[in-house]
Amino acid sequence: MYKVTWQSPSNIALIKYWGKKAGQLPMNPSLSLTLSKCYTQTSLKLSAKSGETSKLAFLFEAKENKPFQMKIEKFLANIFRYFDFLKDFDIEIESFNSFPHSSGIASSASSMSALALCLCSAEQDITGKLSEFDNFFQKASFIARLGSGSAARSVYGNSVLWGRTELIENSNDLYAVPVEAKIAESFCDSILVVSSDVKKVSSSAGHELMKTNKYAPVRYSHANENLEKILGSLKNDNIEECFRIIESEALSLHAMFMLSHPGFILLAPNTVQIINKIITYREKNNIPICFTLDAGPNVHIIYGMEHKVDIQYFIETELRQMCENGIVIHDKIGKGPLKIE
Ligand code: PMV
Repeated sequence: MYKVTWQSPSNIALIKYWGKKAGQLPMNPSLSLTLSKCYTQTSLKLSAKSGETSKLAFLFEAKENKPFQMKIEKFLANIFRYFDFLKDFDIEIESFNSFPHSSGIASSASSMSALALCLCSAEQDITGKLSEFDNFFQKASFIARLGSGSAARSVYGNSVLWGRTELIENSNDLYAVPVEAKIAESFCDSILVVSSDVKKVSSSAGHELMKTNKYAPVRYSHANENLEKILGSLKNDNIEECFRIIESEALSLHAMFMLSHPGFILLAPNTVQIINKIITYREKNNIPICFTLDAGPNVHIIYGMEHKVDIQYFIETELRQMCENGIVIHDKIGKGPLKIE
């Protein structure tokens, strides 16, 4: 029997990926920060095949979970051709998330990257090499991408870029690449859980709606402009400009939701209240702080480690009461996935 375990973190996009082409390729490059505390831990066990076809057993947090199992079956069917050796094994997968149950925090980036890393380790350990790729993390990112686009970025720590851009050498649509951004390495991300309700529009349905969105071409060129500006600001340690772009990206993403046909709103009343309070706090205290959003109502607050005490006091006294069950996760930028020996 073979067993391998990886912990892989979630990530938060600064430049958002929204809209894709066939083959899970992005319409614009995206840039993210890899988190630290919010991760999925996945173990993959392989044993000699007992029947004609490979069997899959899946446990999430020690229990069977049909919707997740179906997602994994679909993913494995899609990536089987990149792991020829798998056809000789029955597969057992066990997974858990470090972040609270039903917190509404997207786990596809962490879970798909953790599974991709386990599969690449298994291939390397069992066959002695990786097929089609020389670089372990490139293959892991390529495979994670096929599970969930944003998962491609979770295989590296700190700042990560996915998608072809003239601005970064070696960047491409097939897998993510790490990007040097010293200043971002000390960023914190406090996640304010406004609602844990299941999303009204899934990510895949949302990406699909970009195909008929009349504003999509403007969005893609805006994302490219924002990428150029944010890379410049990160290089020059211009935190104010960097934070302005992060907020512009969050609002543009949600504007795209509203401009789709049919349009939809994922902001909740408390999301808007929290955003307004962050803006007021920044103006009053002259402390660099900004917000960003995923495809949901939860607010990510980004700030430098040096302002941790002040900003976490602000969150405790003014914002926590607006969160569902008072859930706030104080995370920070992390070094990327970890193989558990
Ligand atoms: O990876 P997906 O298909 O769930 O899309 C993620 C999209 C956003 O989280 C909204 C943005 C991003 O780049 O992570």
